[in-house]
Amino acid sequence: MAGSSAIGQASHGDFDHVLVVDFGAQYAQLIARRVRESRVFSEIVPRSITADEVREKAPIGIILSGGPASVHAEGAYGIDEDIFSLGIPVLGICYGHQILAQTLGGTVASTGTSEFGPAELTVSETSGLFSGQPTDQQVWMSHNDAVSVPPDGFVVTASTPDAPVAAMEDRDRKLYGVQFHPEVKHTEYGQEVIEYFLTKVCDARTTWTHAGIIEQSVDAIREAVGNGVAICGLSGGVDSSVAAALVHKAIGDQLVCVYVDHGLMRLGESEQVEDTFRDHFKMNLIHVKAEDQFLEGLAGVTDPEKKRMIIGELFIRTFEEVAAGIPDADYLVQGTLYPDVIESGTKDAAKIKSHHNVGGLPDDMKFELVEPLRDLFKDEVRAVGSELGLPDDIVWRQPFPGPGLAVRIIGDVTRERLDILRAADAIVIDEIRKAGLYDEIWQAFGVLPAIKSVGVQGDGRTYAYPLILRAVTSDDAMTADWARIPYDVLASISSRVINEVPDINRVAYDISSKPPATIEWE
Ligand code: XMP
Repeated sequence: MAGSSAIGQASHGDFDHVLVVDFGAQYAQLIARRVRESRVFSEIVPRSITADEVREKAPIGIILSGGPASVHAEGAYGIDEDIFSLGIPVLGICYGHQILAQTLGGTVASTGTSEFGPAELTVSETSGLFSGQPTDQQVWMSHNDAVSVPPDGFVVTASTPDAPVAAMEDRDRKLYGVQFHPEVKHTEYGQEVIEYFLTKVCDARTTWTHAGIIEQSVDAIREAVGNGVAICGLSGGVDSSVAAALVHKAIGDQLVCVYVDHGLMRLGESEQVEDTFRDHFKMNLIHVKAEDQFLEGLAGVTDPEKKRMIIGELFIRTFEEVAAGIPDADYLVQGTLYPDVIESGTKDAAKIKSHHNVGGLPDDMKFELVEPLRDLFKDEVRAVGSELGLPDDIVWRQPFPGPGLAVRIIGDVTRERLDILRAADAIVIDEIRKAGLYDEIWQAFGVLPAIKSVGVQGDGRTYAYPLILRAVTSDDAMTADWARIPYDVLASISSRVINEVPDINRVAYDISSKPPATIEWE
């Protein structure tokens, strides 16, 4: 089998694309997403990129992102000056605006005043970037220093009370800078500014549509895999499901999906995988029913990290056994997303690397990786999934940990305790859905602790488990807050769980944020 490398993602070849130079990760990602919302492909690149590297990538435009630092700070990030002489249009945003000014001979002053939050922008009527927009508008600012003198050749096109050069442009050289953040929704005409730059300055073709992505990926996958056989580990989560559906559209029966059912899934999930992939999509699906092996491996294990290790190892061993039974499989489909690629790639001077460590598969199992989602943000993955006909239940599914319910059962993981948690958890999800809260809550689930308490039901005393209800809001799982679920929803969950699940006699709501708690209990 061949050595591993990343293939199969829609190549940029057929799309006009814009480079977003990363001076601060969150800023760059948001800009990249806004560019794509304007239907132009965007790629995040490190700030160390050279003019030669830019030329090689042949973008139609370059956007310099904002960042948290000051251009006057010691060791402040700069940029290869030659990039501005390539004849490729540039838009500098916030820090990028200041870098543009400073590099080309303008002045960035430490004004001593700062602007954070909304500001009133007055724009010049002769400006290109703001053409067709009102002269007074609200923008979002976040800066200390400010450009006080633009470089030669630039005209000032907007100002705020604290930023005399809030925007500047040199139309001949197609260089533009804005001090405010057009990528932020609080900037009234932000998307218009970005779209003007893309369509009028860069002359971009707006072809980065979901149908366009699918068509391009399908061609790329077909070309990469040829007559070969690809296998895909399906978990039922969004990423592996969309990756499988996309690859299946490209190569049909040459794809074999492997669903390792460790018995730690939620109620009805395994059936849904069967219904969706075997019955609806008619995929080759190998459903490995390995509950017994996993429960045997987990018997008596209470340490959370040990549980994860055992499940991880068993998972790989099981997958490996199945894969070995498909001798002509050369390709392994992975649901790697763009944010994973960025994280491993743009830090400092590092080049974008592909992820070769396939969930710990042994070294002697070499596959070519097919990563059709490598260029996509999560919202694009969902849109592609919908377009491919995946059900909303999968496309909009809340995240679920790989080790499944095993890390939501504190202490011993037994078949009996799994059944209890599954029944209670299904009620939680059902009530959250009925209340219309499923989409706004990041994750909502039940946790079964290893304690029992006394209760009274009917005429009798009970001694049973409590269910811990956990529901959080979050943007990225790095931080989270407990969800302010209305009391009446909490009341319905509690009364249904206690009445319908005989082994539970109490429901407690976890009101901890992350940090200091975590989302999961183990
Ligand atoms: P914590 O509990 O660390 O969880 O706040 C953050 C996010 O990661 C998920 N999670 C996991 N996902 N394997 C996974 O695939 C794991 O072992 C695991 N542990 C936590 C968790 O559900 C949340 O979305």
